[in-house]
Amino acid sequence: MILGQRIRLWALERFDVSQNYHWANDPELIYLTGMNPNPKSLVDIERWFDNVCNNNNQRMFTIKTQDGEYLGNIEIGDIDWRVGRGEIGLLVGERRFWNQGYGSEAIELMVNFAFEELRLHRIEARVLTHNTRAQRVFEKCGFVREGILRGSHFVAGKHLDVVVYSLLGTDERPQTQAAAATLLETETEAAPA
Ligand SMILES: CC(C)(COP(=O)(O)OP(=O)(O)OC[C@H]1O[C@@H](n2cnc3c(N)ncnc32)[C@H](O)[C@@H]1OP(=O)(O)O)[C@@H](O)C(=O)NCCC(=O)NCCS
Repeated sequence: MILGQRIRLWALERFDVSQNYHWANDPELIYLTGMNPNPKSLVDIERWFDNVCNNNNQRMFTIKTQDGEYLGNIEIGDIDWRVGRGEIGLLVGERRFWNQGYGSEAIELMVNFAFEELRLHRIEARVLTHNTRAQRVFEKCGFVREGILRGSHFVAGKHLDVVVYSLLGTDERPQTQAAAATLLETETEAAPA
């Protein structure tokens, strides 16, 4: 578990699956993230869970408050271990937690983990141009805007532009909430009774 000031990052557990079923079928979250828009069943989400657990080129964690409330997920995917690069993505699925700094804190914790524990050198982020909040969050966390991939995504019948960001391990990065975070040994959350 990775301990932040207001949040903790936990390993994804099977008991987290049902919450992901709701987020994966939420039209606004699909629009903002560019997730696959097909209606998804619980079986699809369980398959997704199995894939996450078996993919060594991905690290996905749940974002929970100190009290254990489940807000969303954060991941580094598509890891190329030889080059030392990976792509960060996150979702704060519970709207009442938006705009309160939780997303920024989760990014800072994940970035520290990726550079210090996974020994990555470069983290990329891809954000749809209409998702200005996500762009602000990556910029706030020190990511550098590299350019636009024109028409490289397809959502709701339209090809969309994607903004590419990167952060190198050698870049200056702001240390705010997560600066006080302690990286603890990975442990798993106890299953609910
Ligand atoms: C994007 C997301 C991860 C950000 O997390 P968050 O906890 O809401 O973000 P934070 O509170 O840390 O920061 C939000 C920042 O964006 C700003 N903001 C809010 N709405 C905005 C908008 N429409 N346009 C630009 N900036 C906006 C806030 O003012 C704040 O910046 P500030 O600290 O300088 O004031 C979260 O809102 C989310 O998951 N949204 C839905 C899914 C999604 O978009 N995922 C990202 C896919 S790339």
